[in-house]
Amino acid sequence: MAKQDAAPAAQEKIPVTRREFLNLAWLASLGFFLIPVGGVTILFAYPRFKEGEFGGIFRLGDVTALPLVGDTPSENPKGKFWLTRTEEGVRAIYKVCTHLGCLYNWQQQDYKFICPCHGSQFTYESMFIQGPAPRSLDLFVMTAVNEQTGEELARTTEPNSPMPVFDDPAVAYFVDTGEKLVGISNA
Ligand code: FES
Repeated sequence: MAKQDAAPAAQEKIPVTRREFLNLAWLASLGFFLIPVGGVTILFAYPRFKEGEFGGIFRLGDVTALPLVGDTPSENPKGKFWLTRTEEGVRAIYKVCTHLGCLYNWQQQDYKFICPCHGSQFTYESMFIQGPAPRSLDLFVMTAVNEQTGEELARTTEPNSPMPVFDDPAVAYFVDTGEKLVGISNA
């Protein structure tokens, strides 16, 4: 008679030592801490607003997408800004009045921005003229990027300062509606 195979030996159970248990508990609690922290970090690492929505970046295009020097301000309703252009460059002017937040308008016959709420007035270049507003209009940060090389050529950093215009069709202009340059105070 053929000899029957012996039954496999029962697996030996090794009890978890106190040290191993404490190590596992420590790792688990570390995981509980790190997962939310990692989640928050990822949340902040990604832009919160999509390109082309208010709070995000608007790509205007190359030099042909910009107004000409002295053109009537062109309104960007989605981005909530006016674009104006002088010999020095282009400004993206936030459409909200610096007094109490009304939306002001461009008055071509007066060649000024005038707020309908309390009458504050501002120049084409965003500077305060008169009225209760405490400062000039706020601008959004603009950048100029050579899209062939990816190089950022210029960025506006000063209140009421324009973005220079480059004589190069490879350069595109962007407005960041998430970054405001607060207008110069009247004080
Ligand atoms: S909100 Fe514009 S002048 Fe008061």
